[in-house]
Amino acid sequence: MKLNNFSNIKKAVIPVAGLGTRFLPFSKAVPKEMINLVNKPAIEYIAESAANSGIEDIIFIVSNYKKAIEDHFSYHYELDERLKADGKEDLLKLSQSPAKLANFVYINQKEIKGNGHAVLCAKSAVGKEPFIVSFGDEYIDSEIPYFKQMMNAYEKFKTPIAASIVVNKEDVSRYGIIEGQKVSDRVWKITRMVEKPSPEETDSRLAATGCYVLTPEIFEILETMDAGKGGEYWLSDAVNIYLEKNPVHSLEFRAEERFDTGNISEYIRSFVHFSEKDPNTKGLIEKYLAEEHKEKKINL
Ligand code: UTP
Repeated sequence: MKLNNFSNIKKAVIPVAGLGTRFLPFSKAVPKEMINLVNKPAIEYIAESAANSGIEDIIFIVSNYKKAIEDHFSYHYELDERLKADGKEDLLKLSQSPAKLANFVYINQKEIKGNGHAVLCAKSAVGKEPFIVSFGDEYIDSEIPYFKQMMNAYEKFKTPIAASIVVNKEDVSRYGIIEGQKVSDRVWKITRMVEKPSPEETDSRLAATGCYVLTPEIFEILETMDAGKGGEYWLSDAVNIYLEKNPVHSLEFRAEERFDTGNISEYIRSFVHFSEKDPNTKGLIEKYLAEEHKEKKINL
């Protein structure tokens, strides 16, 4: 896709208030979005993709238990003064760079009622502009930042955009599945979204992932719709209602580019990916695994 420097999307909403039950006990006192991918928390990669795509304001939807996220995107004066005094400029840059990525707004989701409810909390901060949403526990590692790709698709098709990946047939029941017609390379016009269907209920294997470009009309739907599965207000349910009367497109990403850091096995895959990308850690996992296996053979 062609890089487009112009976009009128300047605000990103990143819900990070969820309870993170799939990651207990780790997620009890530490937000799961702060889980480390080598030396950076997962949420920093998302904020970087936003900043590298021209997003100026990042609106985090937080809860009382997520203070570490605000701390991470602020300056730590005592640490920074020490690093300056010691002449450790490289480390100072690492310490300060998260705070420099954007303007940050923190909105408290007073009751944890689902990711759709979390997005609704951003209503007054978003105002009347289109905006991008990216869940705090999913990341797409692509050459052109995924925020930029989503915003470019919005500029081109002038409709809300839902990010998607193709999943295996046996996995469709874990996702919101998108049905529609392909309109160009990687772009689908959505006709229906089915939440966690059985493989018999749909022929489609296109699954929605946690990133959307939306327009403010979504707030009216979120305000009036009923709770869905598990008594929670899901963003995908609101998008489904929106598309009954309005066009919505989906931008397909490669499944291997998408990293879901909110569940344990996918997190391990993410860690391996980022540790292999980092020249300081590349090859280490393989080396330690080989040693571990050798050790086991000797023990036998
Ligand atoms: P999930 O749908 O993965 O839910 O959230 P969760 O509650 O965090 O995780 P599990 O299922 O209990 O393990 C997707 C994103 O939306 C945020 C989460 O923090 C996550 O980044 N979220 C979810 C909210 O901000 N508020 C909510 O009420 C629910």
